[in-house]
Amino acid sequence: MTEIVSPRPVVDGHPASELFARKDDKGILRFLTCGSVDDGKSTLIGRLLYDTKRLFDDQIATLEKDSRKFGTVGDDIDLALLVDGLEAEREQGITIDVAYRFFATEKRKFIVADTPGHEQYTRNMATGASTADLAVLLIDARKGILTQTRRHATIASLLGIRHVVLAVNKIDLMGYDRDVFERIVGEFDAEAEHYGFATRVAIPLSARFGDNVIGQSPNMTWYQGPTLIEHLEGLELEPGVDRPLRFPVQWVNRPDLTFRGYAGTVASGAVHPGDTVVVARSGQPARVERIVTYDGDLSAAETDDAVTLTLDREIDISRGDVLVPADARPEVSDQVAAHLIWMAEEPMLPGRPYLLKLGTRTIGAAVTELKHLVEADTLKPLAAKTLGLNDIGFANLSLAEPVAFDPYDDNHATGAFILIDRFTNQTVAAGMVRFGLRRATNIHRQVLDIDKASRAGAKGQRPSILWFTGLSGAGKSTIANMVEKKLHLMGRHTYLLDGDNVRHGLNRDLGFTDADRVENIRRVAETAKLFVDAGLIVLVSFISPFRSERQMARDLVEDGEFIEIFVDTPLAVAEERDVKGLYKKAREGQIKNFTGIDSPYEPPMAADIHLDTTAHDSEALADQIVDYLIGNGYLPG
Ligand code: ADX
Repeated sequence: MTEIVSPRPVVDGHPASELFARKDDKGILRFLTCGSVDDGKSTLIGRLLYDTKRLFDDQIATLEKDSRKFGTVGDDIDLALLVDGLEAEREQGITIDVAYRFFATEKRKFIVADTPGHEQYTRNMATGASTADLAVLLIDARKGILTQTRRHATIASLLGIRHVVLAVNKIDLMGYDRDVFERIVGEFDAEAEHYGFATRVAIPLSARFGDNVIGQSPNMTWYQGPTLIEHLEGLELEPGVDRPLRFPVQWVNRPDLTFRGYAGTVASGAVHPGDTVVVARSGQPARVERIVTYDGDLSAAETDDAVTLTLDREIDISRGDVLVPADARPEVSDQVAAHLIWMAEEPMLPGRPYLLKLGTRTIGAAVTELKHLVEADTLKPLAAKTLGLNDIGFANLSLAEPVAFDPYDDNHATGAFILIDRFTNQTVAAGMVRFGLRRATNIHRQVLDIDKASRAGAKGQRPSILWFTGLSGAGKSTIANMVEKKLHLMGRHTYLLDGDNVRHGLNRDLGFTDADRVENIRRVAETAKLFVDAGLIVLVSFISPFRSERQMARDLVEDGEFIEIFVDTPLAVAEERDVKGLYKKAREGQIKNFTGIDSPYEPPMAADIHLDTTAHDSEALADQIVDYLIGNGYLPG
């Protein structure tokens, strides 16, 4: 799985010690290259490594041999093979999506994040970009500015990259023509304003032949600007701001009763023994006693240092908490506004429960409102209901609990997060927090004197939700209706929420797109929760086709209060019965997005009650449910 906040760079084959020996060396320039293999990305990186002599002799020998065998550039050395070869190696490793390559000139050291191209491009780019100072946007001189160039520029700008180079590559194939170059630059400049980059430099080059990469090209005497490497060497970075301490606790280390330490990696700032820190969420203070490492205690820990802190007193700290200075605390909120870069085939659906991982904290989260989609070409906001693969959106998110964060612009380490699908564990989005929503802190839950227990007590029952799920025409409503009658006769207080009925009132504004179904279920789940709070036994009869939302409904109430009932009728049987004549219409194309036909149904993997409607009649199935309720103590007295 991709982690957006990358750990220390991996450096192919080269001694990394010189690179990290002096961590305060501000001279290192981190950059990434954006473009596909076709644009010459691999060749460019290969050229930089080759011409700055960062290759070992054996690598060069292999390269020359491979170039003769597989090369696509005649007798020349095919530099792309070098990078692609490393890429193949990396693919076997699978653990990283981004390789960091190191090279140096006399003037500066460089780390280039090499992100593989292809479909997952945006995701990989977001991974490589979170620590980059500069982005090289590769353009094929034959093709000019493409939508993908604009997309790369947009993502670079959203990720806070301040500097870009427009590398107009393959200019040799256009006869080193000045007009071609100037036309491309003119087009980009006309649009570039809104990206807000601090510097923007265009360079005509040929990665294959080395023109304007390291040395000035004799083929383009009309070009007076710097070569790529000259520009990279000379680029002045804004002085790094001194960011306050952020120490996300990875785990609480308690080997025995005498030692209690908080292990983690300093995300920003520095910490020393004697410093007073507070827990971001609670504000509880303590003084740092020791900074422990395997190699002995330290007198200071800085950004990226993995250490264990001990404190002078016992305070409540658990994994995911962040230790910060008392006078520079991050925001704490359970609602944030953020940019999302969507990375999954499955669309983003507002209301769907995801997991959000920010720093060391992973909690439940949902998009409450998609404010707009950011059009990659123009950065203009467009109205949208969902986000698809590679889309960028601006959205409000609601989190299961308050979380400590900084706006991404202030601190990348504590403002970036990922969203994870709860069932597949796949990373579905990268996010950048823009600001916290005050709303979250200003609406407090009202504590009421009469609570669920007293209401349920007055009715002499244990409140619960009987959640019926299954295809249209499976028999959900028929069985739910029978169960309610039986419970009623037993003197129980019930309420039945039925899809067809609720869709006439509360949910009359919703249709049958995935997004609307998610919202349909979110509302009915919240309503069911209120009825549980009122002390009732609530029967909910909705197709509720998605596992995620049934899980969300389960999570809204207490353990044991949610009983999932799978009304299992095979599609062929439901279609054969076709009580409402809807399947016929759906097959004829008169109804779109019909469940089971052109809209999915995800059967429960472990329903509490499984009803086989092909083996028993409704009456028997209703009894099966009542028996379950009695047998499991849901109908006391
Ligand atoms: S759900 O998928 O959002 O849970 P819900 O249970 O509320 O659906 O509504 C389903 C009922 O709406 C069906 O029983 C059927 O009568 C009707 N209906 C109309 N159009 C559709 C459709 N495209 N897909 C499924 N049901 C539909």
